[in-house]
Amino acid sequence: MLKIILMLIIAYFLGSIPSGVMIGKKFFNVDIRQAGSGNIGTTNTFRVLGPKAGTVVLLMDILKGTLAASQPYLFHMPQVNPLLIGLAAIVGHTFSVFDHFKGGKAVATSAGILLAYNPSFFVIACLVFASLVYLTSMVSVASMTAMVIISIWSLAYHDVILTAVALILTVFIFYRHRENIRRLKNGTENLIPFGYWYHH
Ligand code: G3P
Repeated sequence: MLKIILMLIIAYFLGSIPSGVMIGKKFFNVDIRQAGSGNIGTTNTFRVLGPKAGTVVLLMDILKGTLAASQPYLFHMPQVNPLLIGLAAIVGHTFSVFDHFKGGKAVATSAGILLAYNPSFFVIACLVFASLVYLTSMVSVASMTAMVIISIWSLAYHDVILTAVALILTVFIFYRHRENIRRLKNGTENLIPFGYWYHH
């Protein structure tokens, strides 16, 4: 039991690392929370600081989830479900101890947890996500749709915990995107400036 608690604490602290805030402040002297959508995640980092910084934040946020959820494998505790440990990283990412218990929208870190548990889910999520970003230029639409597809796909595995965690993450990610949903309804959601990045 002590080991499980320790893994949950480690996962929470890993999830709490505010990658976007750190990269923005250290390398650009910009507080990402005060720019663009104000979100600390990959999308807003891409939007405000460009593709290199965005890619670093994306990788860091995925890695946080993957490392957190990999602990049962790393500590040789196969009886502990990685997804449940991974959820603590989601709590950390959205209610960060290093950022006044605020945080991001949990998309990349959720993908990282899925990567640790079953890479095929990560691949499916990436394919759906990339296709929808391409088709709509709206990361929020791509993020939420990818999670819905993951939840549906999980039913094929007859894995109750997987489906439950996928549903929890989906509902939570929709909740964290409530501002985006409002903008989508108003027709004012931010688009990704692919052309801008390409030419700069
Ligand atoms: O993962 C976050 C993304 O779906 C939306 O980010 O900055 O456009 O609110 P943002």
